[in-house]
Amino acid sequence: MKFLILNGPNLNLLGLREPDIYGRQTYADLEALVRETCAAEGIECELYQSNHEGDLVDRIQAAYGNVDGIVINPAAYTHTSVAILDALKAVAIPAVEVHISDVKSRESFRQISYPGMACVKTFMGLGLDGYRQAIRFLKQYLNKENG
Ligand code: DQA
Repeated sequence: MKFLILNGPNLNLLGLREPDIYGRQTYADLEALVRETCAAEGIECELYQSNHEGDLVDRIQAAYGNVDGIVINPAAYTHTSVAILDALKAVAIPAVEVHISDVKSRESFRQISYPGMACVKTFMGLGLDGYRQAIRFLKQYLNKENG
């Protein structure tokens, strides 16, 4: 089983950006957590972070036929990107959405998630642990789907 773990804009600045909201752990810490979780679950993983919407769309398209599942934190593109939604729908790879913060309790402009409309589940407000939970959930989901 192979997963693509996608992170959107400004997540490369984890640890530095608004630590009261996103915590003090860095993107390197996130990468280590994802790699450890995938290794423990016997999942091969690719991690990709970009500040550019089209790069994220390209990466989703390139995943077609190459990965079994996608874990995505589209970051600010969550609230604007029909392009990322359409890419997820186009490849139809089961995807799970993650948000480090509890977006539901934040500003009104964060209350919509376009990519989330193509995801089987969303984990939010759990800090970096949300990625661990998303990976474990997606593995179980795919195992059930494939009988
Ligand atoms: C975020 C929440 C988004 O609203 C925000 O734009 C981000 C990070 C999160 O992980 O909590 O960049 O996706």
